Amino acid sequence: MKALFAAAAALVLSAGSTLAQGYPTKPITLVVPFAAGGPTDVIARIVAEPMSRTLGQQIVIENVAGAGGTTGTTRVATAAPDGYTIMMGHMGTHGAAPALYPKLKYDPTKDFEAIGMAAGTPILLVAKKDLPPKDLKEFMTFAKAQGDKMNLAHAGVGSVSHTTALLLNNQLGIKPSQVPYRGTGPAMNDLVAGQVDFMTDQIVNVVSQVKAGSIKAYAIATPARSPALPDVPTTKEAGMPDYQVSAWNALFAPKGTPTDVTAKLSDALFKALADENTRKRLLELGGVLPEKDQQTQAWLKGFVAEEVARWTPVIKAAGATAE
Ligand code: MLT
Repeated sequence: MKALFAAAAALVLSAGSTLAQGYPTKPITLVVPFAAGGPTDVIARIVAEPMSRTLGQQIVIENVAGAGGTTGTTRVATAAPDGYTIMMGHMGTHGAAPALYPKLKYDPTKDFEAIGMAAGTPILLVAKKDLPPKDLKEFMTFAKAQGDKMNLAHAGVGSVSHTTALLLNNQLGIKPSQVPYRGTGPAMNDLVAGQVDFMTDQIVNVVSQVKAGSIKAYAIATPARSPALPDVPTTKEAGMPDYQVSAWNALFAPKGTPTDVTAKLSDALFKALADENTRKRLLELGGVLPEKDQQTQAWLKGFVAEEVARWTPVIKAAGATAE
């Protein structure tokens, strides 16, 4: 009997790897849990192009927005683990969300297979172009004086733009009103139109608007300036040294996706990040390319656990939850 079970197990295992050997045999859906045109969508489309060439199958982006990215992320956590549904998650969906959503329907550290880090995304404090403060120091004074008369845009509770704004508000002791959007792509349209006052957003979403002068950037919250926006001072230079925060975007598959399949996806991402044109597009938008040792599945798995552990106390200290 034992031999029979062993043979059956071997058959199943070989079927799994056979499945992976042919993988992918049809288009792959890449869920972006925010509206089109925002930073996560832009990064997903930039890496999906070379990945689909390597894999020989189309990668179809599906924008599933809502609840700060947790709607789309829950969709992927419960999708068939066959390699045909993956997602672009980030510091919000796979870092801050558990602290903001006590009844979150997924666990970033248990319900996904890590595929790989796509790009780091420094955070900038940006404002509508005619907001009175001329620099960060004036913004700090102005924001404190305005109290809840100012409003900030974000992509929903638990998003990067929400979490990083929480941090800023906490440090400044301000409580501006909040205007949630289905992504910082649509939020940016209203910032350019002057409908909202400010936002803390990922660099890839602000570079072109800052260069065009249609919004203004007070500071970048990383230790060094970005080569993509060399004239924007760091928060340290501009007077808010404690506001240090950066985000990231990475690919994930549902838990249980065969290791050969996730290895193929990880290899395709690795090759995409080695492609000169892909690197150029991400760097031009201020993206930070992962080092080689940060491109492995194991590294990303460990990093997600660190991010959840890092953000939980920060958010609890800010006294914020979504529910
Ligand atoms: C987006 O793509 O809209 C952003 O990643 C949302 C966010 O701020 O997290």
